[in-house]
Amino acid sequence: MQISFVAPAEVKDGAWVVGAMEGGQLLPAANRADKACGGGLTRALKFSSFTGKAGQFLELVAPGGLKASRILLAGLGKPDAVDEKGLETLGAQIVARLYAAGETAASIELDVPKGSKVKKAELAAHLAFGARLRSYAFDKYRTKNLEDYRKKLKTLAVVTPDVAAAKKAHAGLAAVADGIFLARDLVNEPPNVLYPAEFARRAKAQLSKLGVKVEVLGEAEMRRQGFGALLGVGQGSERESQLVVMQWNGGPSSKNKKASKPLALIGKGVCFDTGGISLKPGNALAGMKGDMAGAACVTGTMMALAARKAKVNVVGVIGLVENMPGGEAIRPDDVLTSLSGQTIEVLNTDAEGRLVLADALTYTQRRFKPKLVIDLATLTGAIVATLGFEHAGIFSNDDELVRRVQAAGRYTGERVWQLPLDPFYDKMIRSKIADMKNIGGSNSGAITAAQFLQRFVEKDMPWAHLDIAGVAWQDGEQKPTIPSWGTGWGVRLLNRLVKEHYEG
Ligand code: BES
Ligand code: MN
Ligand code: ZN
Repeated sequence: MQISFVAPAEVKDGAWVVGAMEGGQLLPAANRADKACGGGLTRALKFSSFTGKAGQFLELVAPGGLKASRILLAGLGKPDAVDEKGLETLGAQIVARLYAAGETAASIELDVPKGSKVKKAELAAHLAFGARLRSYAFDKYRTKNLEDYRKKLKTLAVVTPDVAAAKKAHAGLAAVADGIFLARDLVNEPPNVLYPAEFARRAKAQLSKLGVKVEVLGEAEMRRQGFGALLGVGQGSERESQLVVMQWNGGPSSKNKKASKPLALIGKGVCFDTGGISLKPGNALAGMKGDMAGAACVTGTMMALAARKAKVNVVGVIGLVENMPGGEAIRPDDVLTSLSGQTIEVLNTDAEGRLVLADALTYTQRRFKPKLVIDLATLTGAIVATLGFEHAGIFSNDDELVRRVQAAGRYTGERVWQLPLDPFYDKMIRSKIADMKNIGGSNSGAITAAQFLQRFVEKDMPWAHLDIAGVAWQDGEQKPTIPSWGTGWGVRLLNRLVKEHYEG
């Protein structure tokens, strides 16, 4: 789908999308459309249940006196509810309607309602962003009935009085959409295609051209350095484990030591999680290709930041492994020595994500001395049981960081909910023979996983862990801006966090 910004002009083909507020009051473009078709819109309103609530639509097909194939009247709700997030949802809902209508072209002409704080250019930009997010499709493996899967809508014009300003406001969002699409593609890709080396190859191919420095460490190098926990997880697999280090240096130069400290983003990249020797039951296996969603989010965020040339230094580190059973695989009862030197008694090989993250955390903090660390991981089924699909869990040693992530979550709609860390829970991972074990008891599984990670966070390092097992993919009901399966969750959130607090 091609999106463009255009100045107001007669709509010559396709749908003309105009707006009304809650209560049914038509916005200026809608009034013009109504006049042009001899009051057809007002007449139709009389015979419909449309009240202008957000998400409501009224369709007038082949209106007389107009070249447009239809008028689509969109409800914007109450003026003070028209914000960036709401406009993105609306843009997505409009695209869904146009898909259903089978339109090939459309123009969206919505005016900023009185009482909304959004600027004209922002309105156009966020509508376009939402429309683009809804247009995502992962259909590369379909060979049949393509016309059922490929949508007809080819061109979407967003009408705005100041085209240059809208384009400028949209540029950053287009970069974020690119990052989200990359993250979704990585999650959706099947695990026979996307194994650790292939993930690393794609990260390098996609990010190098944007000016991100990408390094890939293989097993030999990691063994030399002592990544005992991460390598332990990968040792049952035929596929080589990888650590990918992505550096975006858009901020202060390294001459200014303190100011140039990067933000660190760390992602769990288990390309497939069978559980290992602690094999998952059959019904829990399908979908575990998505166990690299944390790594996909970090990679997508690096793309977004680089593509919009964010004035910030960020390092992304992802641990890529495949968790398989096999003759070489780690066993329950094995003890691993992590890169930090701390020993881990593995009592369940299905609690593998924390092992991968442990070494990635140590490596990142030792090498980069970051300003703060945020890790993202599809870490536990327990977080899904706790928070479902609406919030990611956030665990942190820094309340200010939590507040910032929460605010970014409310702005973008990618919300987080804080859960506790506490010495009491830390006791639950004490081992009889090693420094710690990799599972807690049968309760509070998301928390004991976070406690485990905290043992690899260095003194005074601001750190937040996001357990995204519930939000990273979506099996059931579709949301407007999110397709089925890979959601690309977290790219918008992290981009907003960086933009609000760390860019300068
Ligand atoms: N990758 C899973 C967590 C997961 C479960 C993600 C469901 C998405 C949906 C993780 O590696 C895992 O297996 N966790 C175990 C930990 C347990 C063995 C302590 C779990 O949550 O059951
Ligand atoms: Mn697992
Ligand atoms: Zn896992």
